Amino acid sequence: MRLFMWGAVTATREGGRRYEPNFLDAGPLWGNTGSQSMKFDALCLYSCFFGYRSTVLTYGFMMTRMSKNVTHWLSFEDYGDYDRLREILLRANYTVPGVLEVTGVKGGSVSGKDIPLVLQRTREGRPIDTLMRLFLARVPVPEQAVREAIAPMPLETLKRIGLLKTENGSVLPRLKLVPFDRFMLVQEIHDPALKAPLDFVIGVGAATLTMANFMIRRQSRMTLDLGTGCGLLALLKSCESDKIIATDRNPRAVRMTRFNARINAVSNLECREGDLFEPVADLRFDLILSNAPFVITPSSGYLYLDGGLHGDQFCQRLVRGAAEVLNEGGYCQFLCNWAHLKGRDWQERLAGWFKGTGCDTWVLRGATEDTSVYARKWIEHFELSSSTEFSRLYDEWMDYYTRERIEAISMGFVTMRRNSTGENWFRIDNEPEVKQRDVGVDIIRIFELRDFLGSVQSDDSFMNAVLQPAPELRLNIEYQPSTEGWHVVSHRLQLIRPLAFDAQTDELGWSFISRCDGKRTVGEVLREVASSSSLNTDGIKTGAMHVIRHLIQHGFLLPAEGPAQICSETV
Ligand SMILES: C[S@@+](CC[C@H](N)C(=O)[O-])C[C@H]1O[C@@H](n2cnc3c(N)ncnc32)[C@H](O)[C@@H]1O
Repeated sequence: MRLFMWGAVTATREGGRRYEPNFLDAGPLWGNTGSQSMKFDALCLYSCFFGYRSTVLTYGFMMTRMSKNVTHWLSFEDYGDYDRLREILLRANYTVPGVLEVTGVKGGSVSGKDIPLVLQRTREGRPIDTLMRLFLARVPVPEQAVREAIAPMPLETLKRIGLLKTENGSVLPRLKLVPFDRFMLVQEIHDPALKAPLDFVIGVGAATLTMANFMIRRQSRMTLDLGTGCGLLALLKSCESDKIIATDRNPRAVRMTRFNARINAVSNLECREGDLFEPVADLRFDLILSNAPFVITPSSGYLYLDGGLHGDQFCQRLVRGAAEVLNEGGYCQFLCNWAHLKGRDWQERLAGWFKGTGCDTWVLRGATEDTSVYARKWIEHFELSSSTEFSRLYDEWMDYYTRERIEAISMGFVTMRRNSTGENWFRIDNEPEVKQRDVGVDIIRIFELRDFLGSVQSDDSFMNAVLQPAPELRLNIEYQPSTEGWHVVSHRLQLIRPLAFDAQTDELGWSFISRCDGKRTVGEVLREVASSSSLNTDGIKTGAMHVIRHLIQHGFLLPAEGPAQICSETV
């Protein structure tokens, strides 16, 4: 809870309140698949795999797995087959609404726990039944049924590209092919009984969905999705981008995203293979997205986990590289984990990453975890089969954290904006409750409010500013009984927006906010507040201005005139 009271200004400071690690502070940035995934119509029959094995990264190994089927893997010889396959799936109604209709699940998503339901509801032998049994339930399906479901495409065509295989007269999928939102997505299948290969392409998970909900959705000329995996973010952004480039260091991911673009007839998405910004060094972007391999490990061997780098190095390199290729006014958004080092202020350390980049930066901070909790959480994600291996990995991770003096790890969502015109700022806020999808609208709004504050830096210009309450602002007053009757114990401000910031204020604070009518200046309102409370305006001016700035920074109060993004209720 933020404290915006005249008397409590010292509890806040530029850059947000100081925060002590709180191990119970889990926000929706992380692991809250429930609320996040509900926001997309997802058919998530995936086992949210984040495999880790303590193996040395061998890039050559990846090339070997690819080279086995390198010509045909997810690549039709006849380009027309991409359209043909899409038409076959659409004709069968193998789409999000189609699958939800068959299962009877209302809205939301079909998940792994629904497999018995899928099997029960798909006994009629229609093409959609066959496709759902094959790709969602992933059970062997008689060859003849598959041939009929995908006719006129020969079964051999899908076997050649590595999508299907036959065993004892039945057909099984080698990859998942699932409707997601308005797209069809090929993703890897992970067999939990087997060790995952190092070039495993991670499927859509909680972090992907967070990115999808937080990314800026306005039109962009050039967008980059760095570390695209199976390409969902690039696909989602493709309709709001003139052109989008999806890159990945894993050639298998690049091939998968290319296939997913083609099968969805997305023609403005180009896939490039390579390390970080190397494949796009010649280009400039208005928007960069990255669900980065941010996990802080002793270097796992899995590209999707830590990018083959130690500690939080991947995110640090991402920051520096993004600043080089962003257009003026362009944004870069990524999920990030950062280490708290013993004896160092973590906010200062994090701020240091962005110094000299020419970018304004806003960090929305989610949970902070003690290293033992963090290590256990991540190792548990993929190593449950052997308690001996679990203990070995746990010791290895904890030794690494001790060596590197890492005592806690925070996670957050970072937005950078290239701004060469003024002094750059860096700000951290604890992530508020996320109420709705399209958080990107609120992220831009916060940057624009900051621009407004930059334009009224002097006391005089600030006093002449005209403010109004955000249309989505609500006030909750709490009363408490006493022997003299009921008295007010708190004034709670709440924004009914995707980023539902809330704050405590006091009677004086509320007296100011309620008088901001979009007509009178800050100076006029402040004088009124002072005289109604028998206070001296000069006596409260400095503290009040500090609080008012914070009220604007979080979007409780808005300039009466300004960009549409700030002022209007819907954008
Ligand atoms: C956590 S996964 C995210 C995948 C996908 N964007 C998503 O949201 O589901 C991170 C991706 O970054 C890729 N990656 C790792 N190191 C990289 C590097 N140095 N350059 C580019 N991509 C990299 C991995 O191969 C992996 O596909």
